[in-house]
Amino acid sequence: MNLFQNLALKYSHTMMEKSLQKGFNVELLKKPREKTPKNDKSYMLYAHIPFCHTFCPYCSFHKYYYDENLAKAYFENLRKEILLIKEQGFNFTSMYVGGGTTLIHEEELLKTLELCKKLFDIKEISCETDPNHINPEKLSMFKGVIDRLSCGVQSFNDDILKKVARYNKFGSSQILQEKISKAVNILPIFSIDLIFNLPGQTIEQLLNDLTIAKNLAPQQITTYPLMKSGLTKDNIAKSLGVSIKDNEFEFYQIIRGFFKDYQQNNGWSFSLEKNTFNDEYVSSHHEYLGVGSGAFSFLDGELLINAFDLNDYARLIKEKQNANIAKASFDKKEIIKYVFLTEIFAGKIDIDRFNKTIKCDLEKDLFIELLGLKASGAIKKEGKFLFTSEFGQYLFVVLMKDFYTGMDLVRAVFRDNKRIKNKDFIDIMKEDVNPLDPASMEFKVN
Ligand SMILES: C[S@@+](CC[C@H](N)C(=O)[O-])C[C@H]1O[C@@H](n2cnc3c(N)ncnc32)[C@H](O)[C@@H]1O
Ligand code: SF4
Repeated sequence: MNLFQNLALKYSHTMMEKSLQKGFNVELLKKPREKTPKNDKSYMLYAHIPFCHTFCPYCSFHKYYYDENLAKAYFENLRKEILLIKEQGFNFTSMYVGGGTTLIHEEELLKTLELCKKLFDIKEISCETDPNHINPEKLSMFKGVIDRLSCGVQSFNDDILKKVARYNKFGSSQILQEKISKAVNILPIFSIDLIFNLPGQTIEQLLNDLTIAKNLAPQQITTYPLMKSGLTKDNIAKSLGVSIKDNEFEFYQIIRGFFKDYQQNNGWSFSLEKNTFNDEYVSSHHEYLGVGSGAFSFLDGELLINAFDLNDYARLIKEKQNANIAKASFDKKEIIKYVFLTEIFAGKIDIDRFNKTIKCDLEKDLFIELLGLKASGAIKKEGKFLFTSEFGQYLFVVLMKDFYTGMDLVRAVFRDNKRIKNKDFIDIMKEDVNPLDPASMEFKVN
């Protein structure tokens, strides 16, 4: 990376933080927001399954410890919420189920997915799971239902697995490989999730993880850079230690080189064959509706946040209300920037299509931003398309990582205050909050 690129990276990172501080001004809602579909818009359905048997130190996703009765009651409420959005007139062609561990209760999940397929024109479903829920018999139940399944591995190194408390729970590297080799060809797409740039991780360990993953021949491999937010950085330091040197850029280049013979779906996902169905549902769908506890919806420039607390969620569903309890609004420019990031993350933007779908003039509305990105060599224009360079791919990985880290701001508020109660419509975030600094994460209650 040259000096100019280094500056561009630092500048973009700072601008992203500013944008997040401004954008994630969350307000509690007096009563849930109505969700109304627009005729000309295509939506994606997101469902959240907030249960895990084990909590990993680096993970900030919204979750509870698994309890069978709790999970059964939850799935029942989830199906009621899905019926409610059907009554509101929504339709979907694509569904992403995230967690937690979405296959934690296979029968309940299957019932829920079958309901969604019956109610909506869903053509593709993606789910996330852990290595304890990929046995061939169970997976076979989902043939013709789940199209893509991603399984968290994180690393094939036994020491790392022990440090992140996954060795005893999910098995040694050898056991993980055996489990995965039996699971890869049951559903159309099997993705292995790895995390890189873990503190203390060496180039040899990284190459070993990539080689094992490639040899298992899954249809996709996703390599996430380690994301640290105020919510997770202490636990990461306790379990894995603190990095002496940040290897992110170097490791990212190694990964891209390693997957030269693969198709790159986006900044961090690689496939044997080009596939638009990958981990980044936000790249393919600008607007999405989230169901379930702690799910986010992005509709009409607003981020709506569903109740995190399971009792609050159950109460809202019982009252036949939309389950959202808070919102964050974005102005037009913020929306254009957000959609720009999610699309360019996949490597290319069709400017005319972008302008038509977002109803904007990208080159005018983000004139300064695009000028900087072009000057630093992150993007280039060819005809009516914008393409990322190798440096650009990395820059957008960093910005996407910042974006996800920023989402932890919202989770931070609700995690420790799952039962936030307030009479009024209030600002709960401090204006000068910094996603990377937990000390700034207190929130004000007016
Ligand atoms: C929501 S998790 C679900 C995976 C599943 N429960 C499991 O543990 O195998 C999806 C993936 O996000 C990635 N992930 C979670 N926390 C991360 C972090 N702090 N940094 C980078 N990737 C992370 C992991 O690769 C994980 O497998
Ligand atoms: S990585 Fe998976 S198992 Fe671990 S806490 Fe996150 S969602 Fe749960």
